[in-house]
Amino acid sequence: MSSAPKPDVTPRGRLRGRRIAVTGAASGIGRATARLFSQEGASLALLDRDPAGLKEIANETDGARFEVDITAEDEVASAAERAATALGGIDGVVNAAGIMYRGRATDVPATNWRQVLEVNLTGTYIVTRSFLPWLTSESAASVVNIASAQGLLPNTPGYSAYAASKGGIIALTKALAAELAPQIRVNCISPGMVNTAMADGHRDGASNYALKRIADPNEIATALLFLTSTDASYVTGSVLGVDGGRAFH
Ligand SMILES: NC(=O)c1ccc[n+]([C@@H]2O[C@H](COP(=O)([O-])OP(=O)(O)OC[C@H]3O[C@@H](n4cnc5c(N)ncnc54)[C@H](O)[C@@H]3O)[C@@H](O)[C@H]2O)c1
Repeated sequence: MSSAPKPDVTPRGRLRGRRIAVTGAASGIGRATARLFSQEGASLALLDRDPAGLKEIANETDGARFEVDITAEDEVASAAERAATALGGIDGVVNAAGIMYRGRATDVPATNWRQVLEVNLTGTYIVTRSFLPWLTSESAASVVNIASAQGLLPNTPGYSAYAASKGGIIALTKALAAELAPQIRVNCISPGMVNTAMADGHRDGASNYALKRIADPNEIATALLFLTSTDASYVTGSVLGVDGGRAFH
């Protein structure tokens, strides 16, 4: 694997005064995103089901933390209300919580199938819907979801449930972009493999990527920053591939 060039994360105040909710903030991409967004001036509401990781990133970013399971409607609705109160409003949501499941369709027990769909797709929907009352009252609001190259180009055997959940996120993103315009922009990114806990045991899998390496989480966070910030003020309903050239589209 060739070494990753570092993205320039010199703070430029691109989220100054913005109040952003980030799910999955305890680990990996969500954590890198919380750190970058904080450096860019955002105040943060951090949601995750992992209390230890959540506490660390909340301390580091001075964010408000909410220990929730994103599939639990009531918990999420309560967290959204408390987050909006704590931050004085919400301008954006980044849906980074998710789980992986590896297994061919013929081998995936229905329970696991349902769980992957429930967390990745329904969880993204529940979080977004719960924050809508605040997003609609703000200008330049943004929602960014995380799909996957497995959702955009699901040609690797062994990812059926995960690919279905991520393909669903791509469709949900476009449907919401249509429904929530013009007040709220809704976009998603489609990462290839990223160097987080989710890639454990699979980090050598980038040989078919044009860039021949997996991504650093900061390289995903910078894409989420672009779509969340007003730099992307004319971008909605889009799927931004951030996959080192795994899928050209
Ligand atoms: N790592 C990759 O290779 C990769 C590639 C493409 C897409 N993604 C997507 O990026 C997102 C972030 O993944 P990551 O690599 O940072 O993984 P990660 O495992 O490091 O982090 C995921 C976070 O989501 C949280 N989470 C999971 N289920 C939850 C639930 N029900 N309620 C609340 N929190 C929950 C976990 O506690 C964890 O903190 C996921 O949607 C993943 O599918 C990852």
